[in-house]
Amino acid sequence: MCGIIGYVGTERGDDALEVLLGGLSQLEYRGYDSAGVALADGGIDVHKREGELSALKSALPMDRFGGETLGIGHTRWSTHGPPSDVNSHPHTDTDGQVAVVHNGIIENYQQLRDDLTDAGIEFQSDTDTEVVPHLIAQYRDEGLDHEAAFRAAIDRLEGSYAIAAVFDGREAVYAVRNESPLVLGVADNGYYLGSDVPAFIEYTDQVIYLEDGQFARLTPTELVVTDENGDKIDTSIKTINWDPEDAGKSGYDHYMLKEINEQPTALRECFRGRLDELTGRVKLSELGNLEPNGIVTFVACGTSYHAAMVGTRLLQERGIPAQAFLASEFNLDTVPINPESVVVGVTQSGETADTMRALREANSVGATTVAVTNVVGSSAARETDEVLYIRAGPEISVAATKTFASQQAALTMLATVLSGQRSRELVQELRAVPDQIQSVLDTSSAREIAETYHGSDAYFFIGRGYHYPVALEGALKMKEITYTHAEGFAAGELKHGPLALVSADTPVFAIVTGDGRLAEKTIGNIKEVEARGTPVVAVTDGQSNVERYADHVLEVPASSSVTSSIVANVQLQLVAYWTANQLGRSIDKPRNLAKSVTVE
Ligand code: F6R
Repeated sequence: MCGIIGYVGTERGDDALEVLLGGLSQLEYRGYDSAGVALADGGIDVHKREGELSALKSALPMDRFGGETLGIGHTRWSTHGPPSDVNSHPHTDTDGQVAVVHNGIIENYQQLRDDLTDAGIEFQSDTDTEVVPHLIAQYRDEGLDHEAAFRAAIDRLEGSYAIAAVFDGREAVYAVRNESPLVLGVADNGYYLGSDVPAFIEYTDQVIYLEDGQFARLTPTELVVTDENGDKIDTSIKTINWDPEDAGKSGYDHYMLKEINEQPTALRECFRGRLDELTGRVKLSELGNLEPNGIVTFVACGTSYHAAMVGTRLLQERGIPAQAFLASEFNLDTVPINPESVVVGVTQSGETADTMRALREANSVGATTVAVTNVVGSSAARETDEVLYIRAGPEISVAATKTFASQQAALTMLATVLSGQRSRELVQELRAVPDQIQSVLDTSSAREIAETYHGSDAYFFIGRGYHYPVALEGALKMKEITYTHAEGFAAGELKHGPLALVSADTPVFAIVTGDGRLAEKTIGNIKEVEARGTPVVAVTDGQSNVERYADHVLEVPASSSVTSSIVANVQLQLVAYWTANQLGRSIDKPRNLAKSVTVE
């Protein structure tokens, strides 16, 4: 779970160091416990530092650089060995003639390390990656040329990797991918590689997604992709329609706030061409004929799991049996999946290791697999039978916000399609959501609530029906960016234990919309809390009389329960954001977390 970048300038090439540092700053969301670069200009110049990219930048002896046009860089989230200068990438061989950056995990590294140690190699770091430059150097010493030595070394590896290497001599960047993302960029001023498009989108929107087992050679004059046997592959160049602007903060203090504010646009994009108000039909043209036979199974992690819970309820309400599993808890021994089954992986990044493993297991028994993802060309998109893109655009902040809204919306459309439902009312309600979110963004008093309660001991969130997953999501957002204890409960569960936790220092956020049975029952639960002197913040559309029992109200427009839960969640995102802001937290990059979790 790291970010890698590589650059080779053509005749009109740019300064490699500037390109690499710019790209790494766009990739920091993938990991930020250390960073490093290797520039090849005759010899190899490696600089790396523990800490955020800024630590590397201030340690670079800028007067020593000038005119280098070839190099690689890395931003790290530790898997083997704690964050430190020596464990940072790039890693080199003993003579410093080859430098390597790596994202993923080399599963057989201990055996390789033992063999290399027996051959007299002294290791500098605790990482799995360091075996790679030593292996390459060993093959080169045996007389193989650079590319052959690189391939021979890769052939020895088991596990997941996106790897880039440079040699002294400055002629090329070599790269390979296996189960870790790697994308190539093509521009007039050079060739790029990165773990993700934002690494180089400032320079080009022309990209090639490398497949597992494919190698790339980037030189000043050409970019060549080959297969495992070294045979050239004709790759197709795709055009990405993100503006470079999209990958920046656009004037907001944090990506998270920018992304919360992007939700109306993201949802309009998600609905584009898919909703027919005249007929009440939803059209998801990219999906084939999905006919669920038996229980539809969702697999997902974290925020995406909360969306999967929404998806489950949506199907159940439409008469299709459904279940949701945390991907890490899914396995074929306990979940009977067969070739008739439909398994839906909900994953923003499309790279989460737990979700990918679950999807691969479902593939292995011949089930129909579906990815609901944001990232075109991601592993989930490529390895499933069907893909539904949520079209939220790049999400940089570690805490998922707009992708959750887009997942909820996409799953609502999916449930409609799977059940053959036609409903003008639902289509109109979905169409109204972007404007409803905009009105919440324009009028929310979440900031004042955060100012009042930012010193609390804990935060609790309650809801019923579609508001239950949103209560869980509200708590997850709060804990991950404020570092304060927060928990979400099905409102009816409070009295079965959690009520013992509430006090005057533990505000309870209750989501209550409509005036039906669920609202009434949740109000009953609120009274239990209120009677104990606990502050209550109601997220409500004003249709019930919950205001009477709440200390504060966060308003949402009235609509059906599923669409109001999408909108209500925005209020909770804002409360978490402003609370973290009050506490001075590192909002976009909370401690110990990373955006894309590519280890199980
Ligand atoms: C929380 C968050 C995580 C992710 C989880 C799954 O804000 O972002 O809980 O939802 O790691 O990630 P994806 O959706 O990429 O599979």
